[in-house]
Amino acid sequence: MTAHFRTLKDLTPTQLLQLLDRASELKRLRGKPEHPRPLEGKTWAILLEKASTRTRISFEVGVHELGGLPLTLVARDTQLGRGEPIEDTAKMLSRYCHGVAFRTFEHSRVEALAENATIPVINALSDDYHPCQLLADLLTIREETQGRLYEVRVAWIGDGNNMAHSWMLAAGLLGLHLKLACPEGFEPKPEILAAARAMGRGSIEIVRRPEEAVRGAEVVTTDVWASMGQEDEAARRREAFAGYCVDAKLMKLADPSAIFLHCLPAHRGEEVSAEVIDGPQSRVWDEAENRLHVQKALMEMLIRG
Ligand code: CP
Ligand code: NVA
Repeated sequence: MTAHFRTLKDLTPTQLLQLLDRASELKRLRGKPEHPRPLEGKTWAILLEKASTRTRISFEVGVHELGGLPLTLVARDTQLGRGEPIEDTAKMLSRYCHGVAFRTFEHSRVEALAENATIPVINALSDDYHPCQLLADLLTIREETQGRLYEVRVAWIGDGNNMAHSWMLAAGLLGLHLKLACPEGFEPKPEILAAARAMGRGSIEIVRRPEEAVRGAEVVTTDVWASMGQEDEAARRREAFAGYCVDAKLMKLADPSAIFLHCLPAHRGEEVSAEVIDGPQSRVWDEAENRLHVQKALMEMLIRG
C-alpha cells in the first residue's frame, strides 16, 4: 500500500521521532557530498490550490537537494482549475510523477487524491490540517529543549484552525500539554479534539482567556485570524479576536525561557506584536527553515516506502 502523509495520524510516535532525528541529520549534511539523493531521476509534484511562499520554496529546494525534479503546478493554470476531478488528477499524476505535495481547501480533497493515487501524497495544508508545519515546529522545539518533546507545555492563542488541529494531534501523539485559548465560536472542531484526546497521551485543554493558556508555557504560538479562504470574514474576525494578540505583556506570563512560534505569514499588530515576533524569544526564522529539513526527511521516508 502506498504510504501517505495526510495528517499526523499517518505516523506512529516512533516514526515521528525517527523522522525528526533524520531531519536533524539532513540539516547537518546539507551541502556536503554525503547528503543523500533518494529522488535522483524522480519527479515530485507540488500542486497548489491556495497561495504559498514557504511551502512552495521549501518543497522545491528540498526536492532539488534530494536529487529530484520539483514540478510546481498552480492549480488555476491547470485543468484542475477548470473542474477536472481530483480523482482523475490523482491517476494522471501517478503516471508521470513519484510523489505529490498538495495544498487545498476541503480536507476531503487530500483524502480523495490519496485514495486515487499510486504515489505518496503529502498534505501541504488543507482547511483542517497543516501537518508539515507541525513537523517543523516540533523540530524547532526539540532544538531548544535538548531533544525533549514529552510533556512540553504549549500555549495556542487564537483561532481553532488547521494549525490548532495539527497541534492537538501532535499533543495526542507525543504527550505535549497543550492549552488553546480561543474566542467563543472559534474553537477547534470537536471531532478532531476527540480524535486527538483518544490518542491517549499528554493533555489538551480549551480555555477562553489567553492569560490562562500562556501561564508557565514553554512554547507560545499563534496564527492569522483569517486563514486562506476566509478573506470575506476578516473584519468580523478582527472584532472577535480583539484581546488575542501575543504581545510582550502576555509573553511575560510564560516560562522565562519560553519561545514564540508562528507558521507565517504574520500580521504584526493583529495576532502578534512586532516586539514579540521580532524579539529575542521568537524562533520564527528557524521554524521556517526547518520546513526544508523535515520535508526532505518526509519525502525520503515515503519514497523508500
Ligand atoms: N507556513 C506556510 O505554510 O507558509 P506559506 O503559506 O507561505 O507556504
Ligand atoms: N491558518 C493559515 C496558515 C497559513 C500557513 C491558513 O490556512 O491560511
